[in-house]
Amino acid sequence: MATMAELRTGVRKSFPELNEIKNAELRDKVVEAWAFALSQTEYTSVDEIRASGGPTTPPMKKGTQTDHIRGVTRVALAMADELEKICGPLGIDRDLLAACALCHDVGKPFEFSPRNQKRWQDDPAASGYPAIRHPVYGVHVALTVGLPEAVAHTAGAHSAEGERIQKSLENTIVRFADHAFWQILERAGALQE
Ligand SMILES: [Fe+2]
Ligand SMILES: [Fe+2]
Repeated sequence: MATMAELRTGVRKSFPELNEIKNAELRDKVVEAWAFALSQTEYTSVDEIRASGGPTTPPMKKGTQTDHIRGVTRVALAMADELEKICGPLGIDRDLLAACALCHDVGKPFEFSPRNQKRWQDDPAASGYPAIRHPVYGVHVALTVGLPEAVAHTAGAHSAEGERIQKSLENTIVRFADHAFWQILERAGALQE
């Protein structure tokens, strides 16, 4: 079993985009969120998590879950930066946007964990299936490590769970980046059938 220090080191290695976050405290909390999320599962790295949007949806032909998180973060930041070049300042908090994008799927280790999947499938009447989806578990992770509420909001509402609530500016961008990632890869034939 990896120690928390080893998990933190691994997370820093997986996500070079952490450097986009200028605020050191926010950056460290993003690392802590992923290290904590991994520590609750059998995973020791984000790279080990199935490279898909859901536990049963088609995975990428090439690449890992890490590439998904990195891709969404880079697309989200690019959308913000390029739009602001044309439209002027839009009030986007760039540090917060990077943290929201990096943490949007921080609940995936729990939902994708083969150990949890087996437990839930063994007795769905007792647990529900899945017992807790990654957006909801992501809220738990974000708040547990002391990330801002806005990061928890993005984790919780980047997916179908967000359809019933008004989304923040940063979450709106992350959500489009996330959907773009999967839809473009699907159309490009970059996902398994
Ligand atoms: Fe997600
Ligand atoms: Fe995602």
